[in-house]
Amino acid sequence: MTTHRIAQLPGDGVGKEVVAEARKAVDALGLAIEWTHLPWGSDYYLEHGTMMADDWVETLRAQDAVLMGSCGWPTVPDHVTVWGMTLKIRQTFDLWANVRPARLLPGIPTKLAGRTPADIDMIFVRENTEGEYAGVGGRVHQGHPSEIGIETSVFTRAGIDRVVRYAFGLAQQRKRVLTSATKSNASRFGYVLWDEVVEDVGADFPDVRIDRVLVDALAARMVTNPGSLDVVVASNLFGDILTDIAAAIQGGMGMSASANLAPGSSAPPFFESVHGSAPDIAGKGIANPIATIWSAVLMLEHLGEPAAAARLMAAIEAVCLHGPRTGDVGGTAGTSEVGDAVVARLRASA
Ligand code: IPM
Ligand code: MN
Repeated sequence: MTTHRIAQLPGDGVGKEVVAEARKAVDALGLAIEWTHLPWGSDYYLEHGTMMADDWVETLRAQDAVLMGSCGWPTVPDHVTVWGMTLKIRQTFDLWANVRPARLLPGIPTKLAGRTPADIDMIFVRENTEGEYAGVGGRVHQGHPSEIGIETSVFTRAGIDRVVRYAFGLAQQRKRVLTSATKSNASRFGYVLWDEVVEDVGADFPDVRIDRVLVDALAARMVTNPGSLDVVVASNLFGDILTDIAAAIQGGMGMSASANLAPGSSAPPFFESVHGSAPDIAGKGIANPIATIWSAVLMLEHLGEPAAAARLMAAIEAVCLHGPRTGDVGGTAGTSEVGDAVVARLRASA
């Protein structure tokens, strides 16, 4: 049995509560896992002045995967926390693909009236290291009326090519349609390049139909006709926004999982829910752990444990269908009650 080295990085707020449940579920699978608990985040920042320990690069590089909670707390500015942890890890390890499935599970109420699980099964591939999140810009004349803030998007052919190619590959395994979201009518450089690269890469995938849409229209279409969407590829910011809409459609932020990957590289991938640290409900034991447990499913697939991943996904599906569920998805259960139910399902299926 291969031993998997997994770092548990709960971060802030409800991240701590939901990662604990995901670990419980993974442990119940009986795999050989060497866990490393990393107490990084805003509390660590307030004590040490950095979000992560100085040796964070070596520490994470030694892992096969990272299971993350969330990042951000009202006592530290958000751009400090995210550029000190989430975005720093994505950038440093060049984790260029952010894969976010959005599937409505039976038993979970969607925010879209009249829709059923048959209508909602999408997968988003978000460019994860450049675009609007490149971190290029600056501020001058600070505090003066003439103050300027400049935020530059960076799009590279290589960066678009790799993420679009990955999305085409996924589309080929699914319904053979790839929806690409840009705003190449108004922004005439980066997104026009994006469209051209989609056409170029598409030539290598002649069996996949390209569905090119403007992001504003796509946002509406996700709500009016989600069944028309399967694999969607988008730039960093558009992917960020669209996947919050997708999360709502699949039942809420508590249901939405993600994988931050660098396919083909040895960089440590990380897996996290799409939701944030939710300070309003943190510490109350009521956050929905499913998004993070589902992220652990993506992690197990990535670690080459497809059978364990399938077992865990089946347990999630059973709990969503039969309960217990947390308040955000129509139930009354607490976080650990849901985690315990997932573990009980796993034991029953062993
Ligand atoms: C996400 C989050 C992050 C993002 C934040 C925390 C920087 O919203 O993973 O979707 O915008 O990428
Ligand atoms: Mn987001």
